[in-house]
Amino acid sequence: MQRMTTQAEWAARAKAVLPAGGFGNFDPSMFIREGRGSRVWDEDGNEYVDYLIGSGPMLLGHGHPEVLEAVLEQLPKGQTFFANNALGVELAEDIVNAMPCGEQLRYVSSGGEADMYAMRLARAFTGRDKIVKFEGGYHGMSAEAQMSLAPVKQVNFPQAIPDSAGIPQSVADEMLIAPFNDPDYIRSLLAEYEGQVAGIIVEPLQRIIPPEPGFLQLLREEADKYGIVLIFDEVVTGFRFAYGGAQELYGVTPDLCTLGKVIGGGFPLAAIVGRADIMAHFDKAVVGADGWLMQLGTLSGNPVAAIAGIKSLEILRREGQYEKLRGFGHQVQDMIRKALDPVGIGYRIVGDPTLFEIVFTDAKPRTYRDVLAGDAGAGKAWNDTLRAHGIFKSPGKTYPSLALTDADMEMTSHAISQAANAVAQLG
Ligand SMILES: Cc1ncc(COP(=O)(O)O)c(C=O)c1O
Repeated sequence: MQRMTTQAEWAARAKAVLPAGGFGNFDPSMFIREGRGSRVWDEDGNEYVDYLIGSGPMLLGHGHPEVLEAVLEQLPKGQTFFANNALGVELAEDIVNAMPCGEQLRYVSSGGEADMYAMRLARAFTGRDKIVKFEGGYHGMSAEAQMSLAPVKQVNFPQAIPDSAGIPQSVADEMLIAPFNDPDYIRSLLAEYEGQVAGIIVEPLQRIIPPEPGFLQLLREEADKYGIVLIFDEVVTGFRFAYGGAQELYGVTPDLCTLGKVIGGGFPLAAIVGRADIMAHFDKAVVGADGWLMQLGTLSGNPVAAIAGIKSLEILRREGQYEKLRGFGHQVQDMIRKALDPVGIGYRIVGDPTLFEIVFTDAKPRTYRDVLAGDAGAGKAWNDTLRAHGIFKSPGKTYPSLALTDADMEMTSHAISQAANAVAQLG
């Protein structure tokens, strides 16, 4: 039998051709060979229960047979055309029907692109330049989105500081940074900048931090008061928190939302969705050359991603899927409580049953700074031990999938007990 190339060998090869030895996304020492259902295998042959699920898209698990069948049916008919295709229209219909804010949709290939265009649309629609973003909010890699994404230095609000080199100061000057979950701050900020703010972009649940009751409603009211475009970044929460996303779950409808991850069923597809009068700025015939937002992309709406999305959404519409997903989340959260309560360390499970993480802290985190103040050492011991016992996840998030099984739950429970022991030993 041919000897397999080990992860260490792949890492050495990767280092030669990839800066930082990887794709920039995840621990570059790991190489995933295969994923099936709820499990993934690395190139050393280790098996894991997958709570990373491609950073969100694989909500149905890897290689869902119905999604695969649909994709395999499309592949011989063509991968991409650049031109309109019927599957892209069908998926757009499904999405606008699902999302409370949905009237029209424009496709792009990644969530970050969708966010970039949503902010640009807000500017085109209002004729104003400033964008309000929350500290710690993640909206992809555009220059605007890189402002105060993960700052280690804490500056006074609303000053924006870039988390990336190569961004001109002029971009920072147009961004206003606010703390999440702080109604008084938002009220005073918007009053001070009356007539200058084009859009507010927000993750309705910021990374893992839930909105406090009334916070999203307040953003809606304030946006209406000042004629500001309210953008929900639902790249993560769309079709995960509920079929109609966080806007359905929390009962607040934005003007625009951005979607990605689940809607492409594991293929590159994302979208800007929202009010037709705002989306009209993609249509030169309606808004004229001056109001027009030029937007095109080679792979936008490609039929392979579209059919994977159509099938994924069809499966998600079936009875009981979201109850099942929430049930898995509750089960894992109960395991964590059972294992960590006796340890006597301060911790909080932060998030939603469909997406959460543990922060080792005594106080409920409400903002980015609260999460940052958690005990990083305990978090590292927790995550390293989970990995060593067959749990594949990012250090910042736990994503349950619909493919989880009883056997996965047993393995998860064992790993969580071990992780709690490791945290206990830190003293
Ligand atoms: C809330 C949010 N917005 C935007 C993005 C960017 O999406 P993409 O990685 O597809 O560009 C992500 C990615 O994780 C995200 O979590």
